[in-house]
Amino acid sequence: MGHPRVDAIAQEAREAVAAARSSADLEQARVRFLGRQGVLTQLLRSLGTLAPEERRLVGAAANEAKRMLEALLEERLAEALESERRAQRTRARLDLTLPGRRPARGVLHPLTRVHDEIVAIFAGLGFSVVDGPEVETDYYNFEALNIPRDHPARDMQDTLYLTESTLLRTHTSPVQIRTMLAQKPPVRIIVPGRVFRRDVADASHSPMFHQVEGLAVDRNVTMADLKGTLGLFAREMFGPESRIRFRPSFFPFTEPSAEVDVLCFVCHGQGCRLCKQGGWLEILGSGMVHPQVLKNVGYDPEEVTGWAFGMGIERIAMLKYGIDDLRLFFDNDLRFLRQFA
Ligand code: PHE
Repeated sequence: MGHPRVDAIAQEAREAVAAARSSADLEQARVRFLGRQGVLTQLLRSLGTLAPEERRLVGAAANEAKRMLEALLEERLAEALESERRAQRTRARLDLTLPGRRPARGVLHPLTRVHDEIVAIFAGLGFSVVDGPEVETDYYNFEALNIPRDHPARDMQDTLYLTESTLLRTHTSPVQIRTMLAQKPPVRIIVPGRVFRRDVADASHSPMFHQVEGLAVDRNVTMADLKGTLGLFAREMFGPESRIRFRPSFFPFTEPSAEVDVLCFVCHGQGCRLCKQGGWLEILGSGMVHPQVLKNVGYDPEEVTGWAFGMGIERIAMLKYGIDDLRLFFDNDLRFLRQFA
């Protein structure tokens, strides 16, 4: 359409409008083409100097271009003003001088930390992590572990019964039975988990706490392997200077049985408040898996032997961090928990 000279101007004007980034830019473009000294205005004003035929063509095209440009400017100006108003409102709401809000960072619960550490140490030795149900049957929690009904050993653990034959597990040892029933030797597992006892909460008792069970069964597994493994565990957990000792003990499901102590890492055996002057701290119960237990799961005690241990996560955490009240782990007082950041 139009006229080459007018078309060139119209094209230039459209580009100027397209390049405008603000209402001020648009106003500049308007002045440049439609202002009193504007390019189109000048052109229209100079029509009288043209030959009549040329004047008609250029005049029509220039008027057409002017209407196009006015409409375009009007539309774009409305858009620009609206987005400028929006930006203005947002700026008014943002006070850039306010200090930022720090995101609240959580910390791992001390029991989680100790749990993770124990698991990492044994995972590094090739043990698999296994879990089992917290609601157990009498059979797995006691019977199969060589603790028959009326056995005095049942008095060692005050049990929370759900029914005649179901209970909240009193230790993680039933998972020994479940694991051995489910697989053939060799077995090398640890079992972290919650256990329950009918105790009233005080500084050293809780109706719920956590244990980690360990079990290794294979040909030629000896008590020396148990001692070596636990010695390494103690050095990883309590430091390279750590020492352990075995004290004879009794559990119906291990024979022989041993309680394991670590050399007190506060006084190195000299005697102090933490170890109550004894120089040693008890950390777990252990022993060689009783042949009757191996038979109960269909293993041949003439072919394979094994050892097991059970340690309390709370006990390890209390020793490691010098915590003297078990209830602190369960109160969830942030002043206590934040110290483990
Ligand atoms: N189950 C025992 C307890 O809860 C600990 C233990 C586990 C002892 C494995 C020996 C072997 O006291």
